[in-house]
Amino acid sequence: MKESTNILKISDYFKCKRGDYLFAAVAKEIEKYKKANPNADIISLGVGDVSLPLAPIVCDAYAKAALELKEKSTFRGYPPYYGHDFLKSAIVGYYKDKSVDLSDDEIFVSDGAKRELNDLLTVFSDFDAVITSPSYPVYADACAARGARVEIVEASAENGFIPLPERVKTKGGAVVYLCSPSNPTGTAYPREVLKSWVEFALTSRSLIIFDAAYESFASGDIPRSIYAVEGAKMCAIEVCSLSKSAGFTGVRCGWTVIPKELVSGGVRLNDAWKRRQATATNGVSYPVQAAAAAALSDKGREYTREAVKYYLENARILKSTLVSCGIECYGAENSPYVFMKCPNGFDGQNFFEFALKNAQVVVTPGGGFGESAKNYARLSGLNDRGKTVVAAERLRRILDNQE
Ligand code: MLT
Repeated sequence: MKESTNILKISDYFKCKRGDYLFAAVAKEIEKYKKANPNADIISLGVGDVSLPLAPIVCDAYAKAALELKEKSTFRGYPPYYGHDFLKSAIVGYYKDKSVDLSDDEIFVSDGAKRELNDLLTVFSDFDAVITSPSYPVYADACAARGARVEIVEASAENGFIPLPERVKTKGGAVVYLCSPSNPTGTAYPREVLKSWVEFALTSRSLIIFDAAYESFASGDIPRSIYAVEGAKMCAIEVCSLSKSAGFTGVRCGWTVIPKELVSGGVRLNDAWKRRQATATNGVSYPVQAAAAAALSDKGREYTREAVKYYLENARILKSTLVSCGIECYGAENSPYVFMKCPNGFDGQNFFEFALKNAQVVVTPGGGFGESAKNYARLSGLNDRGKTVVAAERLRRILDNQE
């Protein structure tokens, strides 16, 4: 191919030879395998994509809203910049039921967590960041793209994959990414741990970006919002998504909470984000927001609870199968993910290749979530039950034959 070179300077982020995004790289390898083995019956426990359909009440609301656009009298153009009032009120109600008081103008409707976890950094310049590892690869990429000085705080099997603020060396304020229940380890932060992070953020004058994408999988005393911890409104933004809970991986809807108390460098973050969003996006379409509001209605939530139960049972099946094969595993109790230590000297990448070749089962290599996870693999419980059971049996077979 003939190339043309212009005189623009590319950002440092793209200058260094960056491989594909983790799940895009895995998808590429699956495609390659499929090409070479067209009859392979591959089961994916890789990317965390859902398998249950949307709740009927959600689809009805989605379709009804779409049809309203057909009539002149009910047609709507641009949505409000930060979300329709009906959805923001539904989100406030959702938090109220978790004993968290928010106001409508602290909510920003989004098209899901991933973009927000990236874009929130656009309001800061020349900043430090703390990323716990292993973690969702988006955090590290978002920081690299913004030129942040990044400190990695390792979590490991020794501390049950729960990172603690005592380990942070960065002096002064930093943006701190936290995710609980964690992607990829599936472990959830006990209240005391979350409290210690909030205290750390308050005393070091840091800002937590709390990724709550898996909150609906948590139970018992595990906080389902960072605002369940006192003081968090003074130091944390929360990013949430309907992707895994209500099955919106394709529909795309979530929200970001920016409490009015948050001020950085003399600027109210809620105001800064309003300004940024109004410039950068025209928001989320009306039918999607109508579907999201239905997902947060009583009936919608009932359906979500059942879906969460289903996925947790898948994760339990995977974990118990692996444990019965002598594999060290984490997660599955408050998360749809199982995090397994790869057996017999495999690292995560070798195990991914081994499982694909010998069992036609896709796992996600742990190294994609951070160096400390390179000997681990993540398995998703979000696939269909029947496929999950077959995948578990196939994994048992290859693991038993390993001995
Ligand atoms: C995952 O962890 O599986 C993600 O939600 C998928 C993604 O980021 O594309």
